[in-house]
Amino acid sequence: MTSETELVPAPSGIAEALPGGGVGHVLDAGTEVDAGPGTERVAQWLRATVGAATGLPLRPHTDGASRVVLRIDPQEADGPEAYDLVVDERLIRLRGAGEAGLFYAAQTFRQLLGPDAFRRAPVTSRRRWDVPAVGIRDAPRFRWRGLLLDVARHFMPKEGILRQLDLMAAHKLNVLHFHLTDDQGWRVEIRRYPKLTETGSWRARTKFGHRASPLWEDKPHGGFYTQDDIREIVAYAAERHITVVPEIDVPGHSQAAIAAYPELGNTDVVDTTALPVWDTWGISANVLAPTDNTLRFYEGVFEEVLELFPSEFVHVGGDECRKDQWRRSPAAQARIEELGLRDEDALQSWFVGHFDTWLSARGRRLIGWDEIIEGGLAKGAAVSSWRGYAGGVAAARAGHDVVMCPEQYVYLDHRQAAGEEEPVPIGFVRTLEDVYRFEPVPAQLTEDEARHVLGTQANVWTEVMEDQGRVDYQTYPRLAAFAEVAWSDLPAPAERDFAGFERRMSAHYRRLDALGVGYRRPAGPLPWQRRPGVLGRPIEGAPPNR
Ligand code: ACM
Repeated sequence: MTSETELVPAPSGIAEALPGGGVGHVLDAGTEVDAGPGTERVAQWLRATVGAATGLPLRPHTDGASRVVLRIDPQEADGPEAYDLVVDERLIRLRGAGEAGLFYAAQTFRQLLGPDAFRRAPVTSRRRWDVPAVGIRDAPRFRWRGLLLDVARHFMPKEGILRQLDLMAAHKLNVLHFHLTDDQGWRVEIRRYPKLTETGSWRARTKFGHRASPLWEDKPHGGFYTQDDIREIVAYAAERHITVVPEIDVPGHSQAAIAAYPELGNTDVVDTTALPVWDTWGISANVLAPTDNTLRFYEGVFEEVLELFPSEFVHVGGDECRKDQWRRSPAAQARIEELGLRDEDALQSWFVGHFDTWLSARGRRLIGWDEIIEGGLAKGAAVSSWRGYAGGVAAARAGHDVVMCPEQYVYLDHRQAAGEEEPVPIGFVRTLEDVYRFEPVPAQLTEDEARHVLGTQANVWTEVMEDQGRVDYQTYPRLAAFAEVAWSDLPAPAERDFAGFERRMSAHYRRLDALGVGYRRPAGPLPWQRRPGVLGRPIEGAPPNR
């Protein structure tokens, strides 16, 4: 195998049975693109990326001898994301079962060209590019292959999001879980409530490191996406077969919204008029008041959110809702009584249930963190299982769809080595190998129950990631291991060939270099990737896998 065929994520089969073999194909100035019906967007993507990197014109096919053939063939089995790819002396043929499959064939093709195909302009004067002979048949294991980006704790400018979407596409990931609101910031323009961004999108200062750290960054931090920015992000993602699932967190993680509109808070027990957008980390006690006013307000928010995001699923958060204020609030207690509820936990279920019904009535499906199953869920709702596997197991057994993202394995804010040199060390040590051996489907589920596991996602929370360099360092290369877990048909964790993965990673690091990704080197952080003297919060040990 040459370095070019060291693909990440690994395809399900590099099939000897397909033609392939022999001398491969030479791409040069005469190579033409023969784009069949429905393939024009992928042809454009190829010209914009491979064309730019190689400097080759990749003209539409007329009668040239060298061809890249693009076809969509819905007869192909294994769902619309399946593809096959054949490279021989005569031609290069990319064939998808749907447009998504063809797009993934194009991602594999780019890897076959070598790392320089990941640049934006040619760096060599070479006029011909050798593509190794292969026959590949490939399809993903899971339909939800996600990345959560927390843009609330630290804002990521729009260009950074578009860049991450390109990186996701290169790893065949297809869901961006966009964590848009939290105690520390509100990042999406809502036209009918301008103060959500005027007030809620910035904070005066920021805790630097874990919340116990004595350090402050005494500088305002903020930013938000206009509705046109969001439309651009959603369209850019869609061209890359990525669905953007927005998250608007209720009823906890809402201090930024309450700072903007104090009436959303529990005004009978706290003076919310002087509440700032939160400047430190943890779980704020300031949660939404369970009033009709709050429900109507958030219906207004979600109406605009539904216009912006066409995704089937809409994430409502639902995690870590502190109940202290509800316990003390006469208004919240009256609500519990009026609704005949058991307690404050049931009040939280009622709150989330309201939006479950509201979203279902509009043809969408609610997804929330695993806390939302505690009070019972409506039929179509789904769960992001983050506190380990248990929530996902319970949800799947109750017939709900699940996305597996247990914090013990795929929280990429957690440090990736035990060394003193890891920047702002928080959470469990989760090495590249740990992520590679992560199994999204809990062993205790029956085959029928396991069908409710839609897939998996890696979560990038950004309390200790203040800029692109920090996000890159925490996310890569572990996202490459994660992508293989989500896409490839890997054996059971203990049987996975990590040494083989590492060998393929040596080719993949060259691709990440060409893409300009500030990943963690196998040997550890480069000097400028360290953060000496900033207090983190390491957690020792982790439960056994599954
Ligand atoms: C979470 O990490 N609180 C979903």
